[in-house]
Amino acid sequence: MSPIADRIKELKEKHNVLILAHYYQPGDVQDIADMVGDSYGLAKASAGTGAAYIMFCGVKFMAESAKILSPEKTVILPAMDAGCPMADMIDAARVKALREQYPDAAFVGYVNTSAEVKAEIDVCCTSSNAVKVVQSLPEKQIVFLPDANLASFVARQVDKEIIAYNGYCIVHKRVSSEHILAVKNEHPGVPFLVHPECTKDVVALADFVGSTAQIIKYATESPEKKFIIGTEEGILHQLKKDNPDKEFIIASNQFVCVNMKKNSIEQVLAALEAIDAGQPINTITLSDEMIAKARRSLDRMLEIGG
Ligand code: 13P
Ligand code: SF4
Repeated sequence: MSPIADRIKELKEKHNVLILAHYYQPGDVQDIADMVGDSYGLAKASAGTGAAYIMFCGVKFMAESAKILSPEKTVILPAMDAGCPMADMIDAARVKALREQYPDAAFVGYVNTSAEVKAEIDVCCTSSNAVKVVQSLPEKQIVFLPDANLASFVARQVDKEIIAYNGYCIVHKRVSSEHILAVKNEHPGVPFLVHPECTKDVVALADFVGSTAQIIKYATESPEKKFIIGTEEGILHQLKKDNPDKEFIIASNQFVCVNMKKNSIEQVLAALEAIDAGQPINTITLSDEMIAKARRSLDRMLEIGG
């Protein structure tokens, strides 16, 4: 272990800090984490921890969800400017306006939303359980927000009217089906695994569609030895760790989320040193009222399951 990783280990144990990292984080951040996971797995871990602090190496909506699910904990986001452009595409006022337009619909919100949006919807979902969440609802009409690509992926698998908001992930939307076809032609017969935030045309070319954790599980259990990966490049770190004998080809060098890369191990250490000095930095603060309102939609998702 490097001296910085050693010091991180020492401080996190001393202060009972749970370090969570998303699969899109830089590899050295994933390596010092207590748990690496997809949005659903990390939300579940933050709801059930006995740690005093949660250090969330991801983007802001994820750290906010951890705070909502564990309000008594101090939740820290090492890089406070790590946001999600998709989450910023919708606010509470727009949800309220849609509620007036569709009074009979159930409102399903991707976890990639702010706390104020979570406070206005009926239930959250992640990319791993979106279909299950929508299917579990009695309503036939669903307003699905903010990701139009995930909404369209869900709509193709359920017998319900899905009204999609027009948000999108700037990273996954960048890659076109023409580009993917060229990559597939270079590697004939190699399975193509994608995230449902990709466009409908890209998803149509996939052999498997799933969340980051589901993509890793699929590749690990598959007898195939080579895969084309259609999601953010940080996932390669865990894919290679779990499958040293397999080859992974990132479908495009455009699959980089600059926000996910804002956390560094230096910032993780700085945030731990601040705890050690008795003055935690980069803590997530939400009002008790906001936490109580936003918690309903997250709790409902966790009850439905992954
Ligand atoms: P998952 O972790 O659910 O695969 O989602 C990816 C994502 O875009 C997180 O921002
Ligand atoms: Fe947001 Fe897309 Fe980055 Fe995920 S990959 S944090 S959805 S911009």
